[in-house]
Amino acid sequence: MKNTSYSKNQQAAQVIAQAYDSPPLAYVHSFGCQQNVNDGEKIKGILVDLGYGLCDTPEHADLILFNTCAVREHAEQRVFGNVGALKAYKKANPKLIIGVCGCMTQQETVVEKLKMSYPFVDLVIGVDGMDRLPQLLADRLMGGKRVMEKPVEPATVMEGVPIRRDSSFRAWLPIMYGCDNFCTYCIVPYVRGRERSRTPAAILEEFTQLVEQGYKEITLLGQNVNSYGKGLEEPMDFADLLNLLCQVPGDYQIRFMTSHPKDASHKLIDTMAAQPHICKHFHLPVQSGSDRILKEMNRHYDLAHYLELVDYAREKIPGVTFSSDIIVGFPGETEEDFQATLDLVEKVEYMQLFTFIYSKRTGTKAASMPDPYTHKDKTERMARLLALQDKIASRQVASLVGQTQRVLLEGHGRFEGLLNGRLDNNLVVEIPGRPEWIGRYARVKFTGSRATILTGELEELL
Ligand code: 5AD
Ligand code: SF4
Repeated sequence: MKNTSYSKNQQAAQVIAQAYDSPPLAYVHSFGCQQNVNDGEKIKGILVDLGYGLCDTPEHADLILFNTCAVREHAEQRVFGNVGALKAYKKANPKLIIGVCGCMTQQETVVEKLKMSYPFVDLVIGVDGMDRLPQLLADRLMGGKRVMEKPVEPATVMEGVPIRRDSSFRAWLPIMYGCDNFCTYCIVPYVRGRERSRTPAAILEEFTQLVEQGYKEITLLGQNVNSYGKGLEEPMDFADLLNLLCQVPGDYQIRFMTSHPKDASHKLIDTMAAQPHICKHFHLPVQSGSDRILKEMNRHYDLAHYLELVDYAREKIPGVTFSSDIIVGFPGETEEDFQATLDLVEKVEYMQLFTFIYSKRTGTKAASMPDPYTHKDKTERMARLLALQDKIASRQVASLVGQTQRVLLEGHGRFEGLLNGRLDNNLVVEIPGRPEWIGRYARVKFTGSRATILTGELEELL
């Protein structure tokens, strides 16, 4: 596998500088997962490198770029709606450049639709198009044609891309790209291509820089971090990588997502137990509690395997919490299958669940499976699952009241004077506090709970 490295396109920067009287402004909006958000941060880095300023709203932008998500139909519809609304901006400012990139544009049907029905869109590029972006922008500014790139399978890893991170204390760090698993409901392997791991050296370098810059929480990203290392020259697995990173001195915590249960190992759990830098929270998407459905989903594990991992982690990592993704209403999911999911949720007692009603994705295997249940059946099941989860999470949250723990103060609370902090186990606590404390660790006493969040008081800023 070939790595490429970013270099600034000076010529494009010159064209852009000459096209405007003052530095142009770019509005970049990313939809979807953290991987996409991180891609968006790199796109912003490239644009700043080219001479753009960044703005938080599209009104006064000279360039609007939507970095899209394709994982569910609802996400795609939202993007089409948002793109449609840009027509008015283009009318008001004919010099405005509108671009669409990311996972949606890896699908031919989407490119075709944007080409035919959204004539005010100037650029359509795929997930690996950020290195071409400067030239494409320059060409368009010099009166070139609209660019509607045909999707190609992403196949490289690009290093050295400048980045404009959204936060000064929490960072996303991709360790691998793509996915080889082909879960039957999922579009990701089709749009993000085959698994490619970054080298340990490149990851370590970025990680060390982040720690030196004072980042307090670094989240390692990959569609399946547990299969990190496949295809690398020197063999290394995800647990080895974690051990390598934890040698970097500093005051920081590491999170990671997403772990596929079929590849999660005891070695990984032992590493989480042994390394104080790693948060005691395990996001382990189960998708369904029915062995029959797991097979239909092509998940390559059964319930017994999943529960064994949960038990092992509970035994080795005191206080560990679990979260999960669950799909409700996969084609042919019966009441009995769904009941098995509820049973599993009761058994594991997740702290958090990310729940999704199955969304049919053209091109995936599940899209052609018979699906006799109605949307109403599925929303009813979803309501039952959410009610159960609320009960479980509230109970667990309440059981922490009275404890004092270190939390990372990560943002504003519900109203002025309140801050949200995140516990090692990924729960949120709300405390009275000042905005300048955001980004710091604090010792917080948990004094109460409200549904699935804790409320507390500052004991000490750390
Ligand atoms: N429909 C519903 N949910 C989906 N996910 C992925 N594909 C689909 C789909 N077609 C969910 C899975 C995955 C999460 C990121 O999104 O639960 O873990
Ligand atoms: Fe999609 Fe499955 Fe890959 Fe996750 S592991 S990205 S759900 S195919």
